[in-house]
Amino acid sequence: MRKLWGGAFNETTAELVDRFGQSIQTDLNFWQEDIIGSVAHARMLGEQGIISPEEAKALIDGLERIHEEGPSYLKFDVEDIHTAIEVRLHELVGEVAGKLHTARSRNDQIATDTRMFTVNELLALQDEIKKLQGLFLEISSRESGTLMPGYTHQQRAQPVTLGFHLLAYFWAFQRHGTRSERIVTVTNYSPLGAAALAGTSFPIDREATAHELGFIAPIPNALDATSDRSYIMDALHLCALIMIDLSRISQELILWSGKEFGFVKLSDTVTTGSSIMPQKRNPDMAELIRGRTARAIANWTTLAGTMKALPLGYNRDTQEDKPPLFDSLRKCRDSIQLVYLMLETADWQTQRMAESTYGDFSTATDLADYLATTGLPFRQAHEIVGRLVRHCLDRGIVLEELTPETLAEIEPDVPAAALGVLSAAGSVARRESLGGPGPNAMAAQLSHANLLFAERGFPRIA
Ligand code: ARG
Repeated sequence: MRKLWGGAFNETTAELVDRFGQSIQTDLNFWQEDIIGSVAHARMLGEQGIISPEEAKALIDGLERIHEEGPSYLKFDVEDIHTAIEVRLHELVGEVAGKLHTARSRNDQIATDTRMFTVNELLALQDEIKKLQGLFLEISSRESGTLMPGYTHQQRAQPVTLGFHLLAYFWAFQRHGTRSERIVTVTNYSPLGAAALAGTSFPIDREATAHELGFIAPIPNALDATSDRSYIMDALHLCALIMIDLSRISQELILWSGKEFGFVKLSDTVTTGSSIMPQKRNPDMAELIRGRTARAIANWTTLAGTMKALPLGYNRDTQEDKPPLFDSLRKCRDSIQLVYLMLETADWQTQRMAESTYGDFSTATDLADYLATTGLPFRQAHEIVGRLVRHCLDRGIVLEELTPETLAEIEPDVPAAALGVLSAAGSVARRESLGGPGPNAMAAQLSHANLLFAERGFPRIA
């Protein structure tokens, strides 16, 4: 195996050592960042007179050619992507290739590559988040009057609307977007030029490379620059949080698409059949998202576990930061797109949803609220309605079936007018408090969401 080191070694490493240490396959994820970083470094070396202008040009031309060729021209019998690119550069430009690594180490190089890669991925993730938010907005405004049961403890609580329910996710993803932007602002600093851990005696210009690579500024301390991996933990944590929300909506789609709920039909394009039961339509994608969320959580704790005992300075353990990072980012993006697809093609069973709010006692709170408006303390109102519910259950009737006569029989103190508040539609319509599902409150919430959505990025909600 070709290596960038070995002068001080009498013997070659054991084959198992090579295999165990190799990262070239996973490194391919950021081959472009590695080249772009090297171009900036070569240019800076030339401009600072550390190498001649001709040498700098030869290096940059060679690197650009490697970029155009793509990774298929790289050799894979190497330790890592840095070696693969240097080997290819040597094939293309000859001995001068050996000057590229002046005033640089793989330690600052890998940190530079990973930071650039993470920033690029987070920006792409933000586009996906925004797109999904757009869909939540669209369905929410379309279905803002579609009645459905609202749940706490997975028990019928109070009626809401489908639009209200889905709009809750818009805000969850607004937070994810904001988090992602925050992570970009802590990640986007340049380690390049930190060298192995302690800087270099060459007169390098770290500001210039940072600037060329789109970083905000160089990381001020060379040891910190090569040691910090907190931005990867941030990204992994973000992916875990996003996956948790995607898993929750997946769980709802799984439940709602079952016969017991029957609230939604998932389209053929996102469901699968059974090899034995011909009637089956399985929400596999939602289940896989739910299942893979465990991995996303594990990826974050894996790196946290790796980092917690590492002294400062480069440690090879940190090679293990990348497989979880690639895995979580990929899962997260795929899962956002799948949830988008499932929602975009969902056939909402709006009539079934609305009908299922009938007879579930979920307007009992409305009755208590009504009594409280007549001057009764809410506690007492709650007590009376509780008794009423019990009597109805005993008689085998639902609240909506109460007539003025039965009401007078059971609770003579409750005026017959109270029966006017028992419909689910009325219940939703009256809950106009800020953030509630009532039509005016929903319209206000939708316009608030639309306003933020129309802005670039993920501005604060107020
Ligand atoms: N593959 C290594 C990593 O991902 C690259 C840096 C290697 N540095 C070193 N001193 N061995 O961390």
